[in-house]
Amino acid sequence: MHTDDASRSGPVLVVGGTGMLAGTVGGLVRAGLTVVVVARKPAGPGAFGDLGTGGGRLLTVAADYTRPLPFAAALRRVAARTGPFRQAVLWVHAHGRPHAYAAVADTLAEGASVLEVLGSGAAAPTAPAPSRPGALVRARYHAVVLGFTGREPHTRWLDHGEISAGVLAALRAPAGDGPYVVGRVRPWEDRP
Ligand SMILES: NC(=O)c1ccc[n+]([C@@H]2O[C@H](COP(=O)([O-])OP(=O)(O)OC[C@H]3O[C@@H](n4cnc5c(N)ncnc54)[C@H](OP(=O)(O)O)[C@@H]3O)[C@@H](O)[C@H]2O)c1
Repeated sequence: MHTDDASRSGPVLVVGGTGMLAGTVGGLVRAGLTVVVVARKPAGPGAFGDLGTGGGRLLTVAADYTRPLPFAAALRRVAARTGPFRQAVLWVHAHGRPHAYAAVADTLAEGASVLEVLGSGAAAPTAPAPSRPGALVRARYHAVVLGFTGREPHTRWLDHGEISAGVLAALRAPAGDGPYVVGRVRPWEDRP
């Protein structure tokens, strides 16, 4: 995804941003962006590491993406404060996706970019190639797949720092044909 001038100016929405993506959130705030983080339990600023002094702003929203109406209302409320989102990073478990993505789509700016974060299963040889969810038809869409690292027989899953740094790199990378892979997913038999 190109982090172009429009998307650089934010605001950025990160759904599921208090766990493995906390470092991604910290990096976006350090870059001076207004970042809205959504999770069920609010996290204090300390959860996101160094937030820097670059004028970035962090807003946390407690909302459950498995509860469609309150989730959509919470996103609309925060977008009314920040303005529509220029970028969204979505780490949403499969069962919450259809409703969550529809709610996100309602709060995106024209021409916004969406980065969907997917587990390694999305790169299984039998899995269909990641494709843009129907609700996000008007957004610029890219997927990032989380893989593993290390050399056989000592491969391991990525740690949170590696995942967060990889997702930041995906946000800055030029748009490619397929999903951006953090770590590696081939050979598939090497996975831990
Ligand atoms: N290939 C890989 O390397 C790979 C791929 C996937 C996962 N993993 C690993 O697996 C671990 C566990 O995954 P995880 O999904 O628990 O990741 P996580 O990022 O640590 O936590 C999930 C995030 O989503 C939020 N969330 C969960 N359910 C929600 C809901 N219903 N509504 C709103 N927000 C919700 C969580 O906050 P709340 O709980 O407060 O809602 C949190 O912010 C990760 O920590 C990662 O290390 C590795």
